[in-house]
Amino acid sequence: MTNPRISPALDEQARAILRGNDRGGYTVPTDGLYPYQWNWDSAFAAWGFATFDLDRAWTELDTLFSAQWDDGMVPHIIFHKPDPGYFPGPDVWGTGKSPETSGISQPPVAATMARLILDIDAQAGRDRIAALYPKMLAWHRWWRDYRCGSGVVAITHPWESGRDNCPDWDIGMRNVDGSNVGEYTRRDTGHVDPSMRPGKADYDRYIAMVQFGRECGWDQAEIVKNGPFLMADPGITFILLRAHDDLAAMGRTLGHDVSEIEGWAADLRAAVPSIWNAETRGYDARDLKTGRFSGRIGSAAFLAYLAGVESPELDVRMTELWDAVRYGFPSADPASADFDPRRYWRGPSWPVVNALMAIGLKDRGHHAAAERLRRETAELIEAHGFFEYFDPIDGTPCGGDAFTWTAAIWLTWAGLAADTKGGA
Ligand code: GLC
Repeated sequence: MTNPRISPALDEQARAILRGNDRGGYTVPTDGLYPYQWNWDSAFAAWGFATFDLDRAWTELDTLFSAQWDDGMVPHIIFHKPDPGYFPGPDVWGTGKSPETSGISQPPVAATMARLILDIDAQAGRDRIAALYPKMLAWHRWWRDYRCGSGVVAITHPWESGRDNCPDWDIGMRNVDGSNVGEYTRRDTGHVDPSMRPGKADYDRYIAMVQFGRECGWDQAEIVKNGPFLMADPGITFILLRAHDDLAAMGRTLGHDVSEIEGWAADLRAAVPSIWNAETRGYDARDLKTGRFSGRIGSAAFLAYLAGVESPELDVRMTELWDAVRYGFPSADPASADFDPRRYWRGPSWPVVNALMAIGLKDRGHHAAAERLRRETAELIEAHGFFEYFDPIDGTPCGGDAFTWTAAIWLTWAGLAADTKGGA
């Protein structure tokens, strides 16, 4: 039985966005602002394609993993074709890979998305997942080997988190010297309103971190040990925990021994209490160079549900943050002085994070909250279209338009008339 949909016309627009952003085997997040293949955007794009073109869905993941490094890392950007409209491009990253890529990774949602796609048609996906499985396994092992030294997942650059300028990273950013990066021209502020983008001081530091990586030849162990930035990320910790479970489930179906993955998941789960901040009453980012918490709670803390981690206190905090806004879940705490409802990850509501949160809420039996999140996200898209993110207080659309992952989550989740299905 197919679920009733809110609007066939919006469904058609969403499909047109995915097709329009298709560059042949991979999808750009949006034309202009982001002209390459981004890691977690692509995984969501695959889920979106799966609603109308399964073969194309798997191809999106195949292309993503075709850029995997020998050590298992799947980079955050793949520069398939040169594009002068984007900075920092391949020449700045200087990773020397083919295809050219950035030198950091991004939230590992691919296994979770692959499992959702497999749920649509397990038969059609069997050979595709069989081929992808060892690559996903190698990537998860890379997280374990290069990012889980402290127990939970660490990031070496705020961009690795996918939540570029959220207040969680401020404390770690302060240690980064951005004063010697030299001259450069940003391109992002030519595409969208600069007041919605990270500021110049932040950008200088982002570039300084890229320069450190480049200078050490992208030696990941060296970056972790001596790089300018290392913070524990609750977002990726929960995403990876969930992805380990999804990868293990797919591995079992394929007849593999998944005990290695189960071991990684058990270790990661055991480390989760180390990012609980009793003061802010939430899962908090932590500067691993000093041990200090960021003291900021944002949407990433509530991806806990996705990983099957929950507590009555977390439910209370979720309501506190959410009830302070009107549309979807805020990326940063509205009660905090640095909350900024239109500046990227410092407050806005991101449809794609709402979708991940809702999967977790539903799995944990919080059906009313999951449905509220879907409804509020749908209202934003119905009123304004497929924007990158939205002001959670008045719904103003922000950032890039015709955005791939917003279209994808409309097709898979937000565009359902009511999400009453048992699964995700
Ligand atoms: C920004 C976002 C990141 C996303 C990318 C492409 O950098 O912060 O999460 O992957 O844009 O959409």
